[in-house]
Parts: sequence; C-alpha cells; structure tokens
Amino acid sequence: MAYIMISLVSVLVLCISAAEGRKTLHPINGEADGICKTLVERQGYTCEEHTVTTDDGYILSLQRMPAAQSGMKANKSPVLLQHGIISDAISWLFNHPNESLAFILADNGYEVWLVNTRGTRYSNQHRSLSPDDKAYWDWSWDQLTAYDLPASVQYVNNNTGQKLHFVGHSLGTLIALSALSQDKVLDSLSSAALLSPIAYLDKISSHPTKIAADIFLGDVVYWLGLRKFNPIGDGGSKLLEHMCNLPFIKCKNLFTLFTGPNCCINLSTIDVFLNHHPQPTSTKNLIHLAQMIRSGKIAMYDYGDQEQNMAHYGQASPPLYDMTRIPNDFPLFLSYGGQDTLSDVKDVQVLLDNLKDHDKDKLVVAFMEDYAHMDFVMGVNAKQVLYDNMMAFFDQA
Ligand SMILES: *[C@@H]1O[C@H](CO)[C@@H](O)[C@H](O)[C@H]1NC(C)=O
Ligand SMILES: *[C@@H]1O[C@H](CO)[C@@H](O)[C@H](O)[C@H]1NC(C)=O
Ligand SMILES: *[C@@H]1O[C@H](CO)[C@@H](O)[C@H](O)[C@H]1NC(C)=O
Repeated sequence: MAYIMISLVSVLVLCISAAEGRKTLHPINGEADGICKTLVERQGYTCEEHTVTTDDGYILSLQRMPAAQSGMKANKSPVLLQHGIISDAISWLFNHPNESLAFILADNGYEVWLVNTRGTRYSNQHRSLSPDDKAYWDWSWDQLTAYDLPASVQYVNNNTGQKLHFVGHSLGTLIALSALSQDKVLDSLSSAALLSPIAYLDKISSHPTKIAADIFLGDVVYWLGLRKFNPIGDGGSKLLEHMCNLPFIKCKNLFTLFTGPNCCINLSTIDVFLNHHPQPTSTKNLIHLAQMIRSGKIAMYDYGDQEQNMAHYGQASPPLYDMTRIPNDFPLFLSYGGQDTLSDVKDVQVLLDNLKDHDKDKLVVAFMEDYAHMDFVMGVNAKQVLYDNMMAFFDQA
C-alpha cells in the first residue's frame, strides 16, 4: 500500500484491517528468513540478498532477482522497484507469479531489484543507532529523497554497470519526483514509472485521510513524542480510536474509504498481505504528508516556526520541490486510477499541468478508469491492462 502512499491513508487502513483480521490470518511461513527465502526462492526464482548503507547511516536491504523462473538469465536492463508507505518490498511479490510485478519483470528478461525503505522490517539497521532510539525515527520523506533513493539507485548502478528503470508506487513516486526535480539520480536512471502518483495532496478525496491529517497536525506534540509510528501499536490505536468515534466514519470500511474501491484485488491475497503489513514509518513522515494535505504544496518538512525553519533551511518557510524542473526529455510513465482516493484525479491533473512542457514522446500517461490505490500493485489483471504497456515503454526509453 504505499503504500499508500499510502500515505496516511494506508496507514490507517492497514491498521484497521490488520486489527480486525488478525485472528484469521495465515502467517507467511519463515518470514524471519528474509524476502528471498520466504517469497522468491519458494516460487522457483533465484534471489540474492544485498544491503546498502545510506549517507546518513541507515542500512537498507535489497533483493536481486537475476533470472526468470525458467532459469534464463536476465538480458534486459535492471529495474528497481520502490514500494510505498506502510509497506515494503513484499508488496511486489504477493500475488501469483503471473500477477506480481517483480516476477513478471523477471520472466520478461529484466534484472529485478527490490528495495526496502528505512524503518521497515528488513531495513531496520543503522550504523550507530537502534530502532529503539528516538533519533532513529527522526526523518520524513525528505530524507528518503535525499538518502535512500540515491543510495539504492547508485548501488544497483554500481553492481550492474547499467542505467536502470525505476518503478515507484504511491510514496515511492513522490520520492522519485522530488529527486528528479533536484537532478539527483538522473545520471543513473533511464526512465521512471510512477504508479498511483503522490505529489499534490490537497484535493485528496479520502475523508478519513483528511480527518487523520487534521488529527495529526492538531496533536503534533503528542505524535512527535511517539517518533516511531506503528499503525497497530499504541499510537496507531489512539489515532484509530479518535477516528472511529467520529459519527460519520464506519470503521469497518476504512480500507476502502482510504484507498478507494479496488476493483481487482484477490480477496484471499488480502489476508496474507495484511498479516505482514502494515510496516512502521516515522511519525514525522506522516506529519509531513499531513502538511501537504493541508497546504497543497510540495515542500520540505515544516518545523512550524520561522526560527527553526531558518536553522534548518536558511529561510523562514520550507523550500519547495519544483516539479517543472524535471528535465523535459526524461522518459516518464505515469499511471493513475479513476477510483483512487489517495492519488486523486484532480491532484494528478495539477502534477500533469506541471509537466505540460514535457517532450510528448517522453511522457506516457495511462489512466485506469476502474483502478483504486492498491490495484496498481495487487490487481490480478494488472499485467494485461498496465504492466505490458509499462514494459513496452521501458523497451523504448
Ligand atoms: C495466473 O495463474 C493462476 C493459476 O494458474 C490463474 O488462476 C490465474 O488466472 C492466472 N492469472 C493471470 C493474470 O493469467
Ligand atoms: C558506487 O561506486 C563508487 C565508486 O566505486 C563508490 O564510491 C560508491 O560508494 C558506490 N556507491 C554505492 C551506493 O554502492
Ligand atoms: C486468488 O488467490 C488464491 C489463493 O492464493 C488462488 O488460489 C487463486 O488462484 C487466486 N485467483 C486469481 C484470479 O488469481
């Protein structure tokens, strides 16, 4: 879910669903063994575990899939998959191999790399900090843009000696867009595919997300005290309790309320998915997203007073990320859904307007009328209706 960006949304969604469904879920066997052993090798694919350390000390886990299920070695460019918030790389491996993007890419000759964002289960190490330290959670997506993305892109580039294609879902798209707007990883990428893009957030049509954003900002001091946001832990429950007490929220439907009515998800997969998710994120990251929902701007984290902003940024308000600075000739594939309550159609229009000078043959836009937020990673028909087009785009980029 990208997470939702899953943004906030996802968070909440997941929380709820996870709490509700916990008793009946089937655990993923051997989860402690890591993603390769647990989910990839079991399906008959080769897989290697890798790690990269970011410039600010976070040790991220990556998985490399160098061959198809048949054993045929990859003969196309590397592709790096970046999940969304509250999620991790497992989201690309959940469905049957013929329906999961990571396996589909491997079977189509690409060398697949998966990365796990800092703070999630398989990327919870740091050079000097422990996840029990408050300082470990002192980051928002600004740092994912500044450190996580460049480290993982560079690592794949170093290991393969090739430029790579990038695929992001939800928050994974925001990280890429903001990095591209600052000319950060351009030299190592040959294209980027953005699924359910998160950029402008003020027209978000998910009511629960808006309410959650308000509660977050309203209780900023409380939430910052809980630096780690574990959706099903104490902090998460308090947020849910707030929300479920509101008369117009039906807690049971939160998953749909948050992400939109996903058309094409296999219900039996959801159980397995929710058993592993949601993954923790930092409270500061959620506050940052809540600021975007309120302000309608893509800006760096707002410390809330001019003095502190001055100390961090040398100016009284947080610097903006300018989407019009993404180079017009950089190949972009952007797909958004008509039912997506997180990546709202109206917000995506604003982003597309920022990209209006983009070279026409370098921007492919795929509108998926009946897709909601999670269909982009978990839709059982995604290969036919979306991934095939995306791979055709890679082959031309
Ligand atoms: C994938 O394979 C499963 C099992 O063979 C089948 O039920 C499903 O319809 C297939 N999905 C697609 C998209 O081909
Ligand atoms: C990539 O290679 C360069 C040159 O050898 C090295 O300085 C850098 O640390 C490497 N970066 C990563 C993320 O592996
Ligand atoms: C849905 O998931 C179940 C359990 O994994 C599987 O048996 C079934 O083939 C899946 N259906 C589709 C359409 O992929």
